[in-house]
Amino acid sequence: MPTTKITVRNNGSLGIEGDFEIVDAEGKPFGLKGRTKVSLCRCGQSANKPFCDSAHKTCGWESVVIAFDLPEPKPAP
Ligand code: FES
Repeated sequence: MPTTKITVRNNGSLGIEGDFEIVDAEGKPFGLKGRTKVSLCRCGQSANKPFCDSAHKTCGWESVVIAFDLPEPKPAP
């Protein structure tokens, strides 16, 4: 059973819950103050990236995603 669940919300954010860490490009962790649930922006309009600030609700962005299977990964060289 995975310890982290990521939910792709229709017309909205990526919901992350469970045991996780979010780091910047340098590997520095964001201070989540003990949160076990956060929402990450998927629309690109948040003023608080990478976190969702609900801007997706007013910017007209739409994305409905249905789960699918990825192809097999390429073998490691
Ligand atoms: S997904 Fe919510 S502000 Fe971008």
